[in-house]
Amino acid sequence: MRPLLLAPLQFSSRIRSRHLRFHRWSGRIVMLAAITTALSGLYFGLFMPFGGPAEAVAIALFGGLLLTAVVRGFLAIRSGRVALHREWMIRTFALAIAISTVRLVGPVVDYAFTPRGLRAGDVFARSVWIAWVLTIAAAEAWIRYTRPVSLSRGALRRAPLNPPLACAPMAPGRAPE
Ligand code: HEM
Repeated sequence: MRPLLLAPLQFSSRIRSRHLRFHRWSGRIVMLAAITTALSGLYFGLFMPFGGPAEAVAIALFGGLLLTAVVRGFLAIRSGRVALHREWMIRTFALAIAISTVRLVGPVVDYAFTPRGLRAGDVFARSVWIAWVLTIAAAEAWIRYTRPVSLSRGALRRAPLNPPLACAPMAPGRAPE
């Protein structure tokens, strides 16, 4: 999905501080792309899984998580919770790019298990699970590593507008569309 290529720009504090309007609009495009990717992944993963039930379960789980992350990220920013928005968007990004991690993990799993007689479909299903778990774990580790100490999980949910987060110079109010 080419619009997802815009996603890395969403993490640039320089762009957010100078071109908040761009961030909003490209963010909407990225969100639409993520939702479309999740829905098409769910369709193919559930109705024609190459890796059988193990792949179907993985796709249902991670596709569902991707949709949840996008919606929660959007709801967070609509209610002014920037820190929470950032964290859900990191999860969104990780869940969306994990399909690329499959391409990196796949050859390793293939090398390890095909000689032991594992079928190609099972190799793929294992690669899907490993890739998503690794990518999400990396995202969660990054979220926890960069989360301000003052913001516990509960505090984060209740955090008011513009918490003391160094990642985004904040506009005092909503800039005109
Ligand atoms: C893939 C990553 C991201 C996506 C898809 C995304 C998406 C969006 C969208 C769609 C909006 C506009 C919401 C509306 O309609 O009002 C928005 C606003 C905003 N986002 Fe993000 N965002 C991402 C990452 C981030 C990150 C990492 C930060 C850093 C803290 C951030 C901070 C903000 C801020 C400050 C606003 C503007 C709030 C306002 O309107 O005043 N975003 N984002």
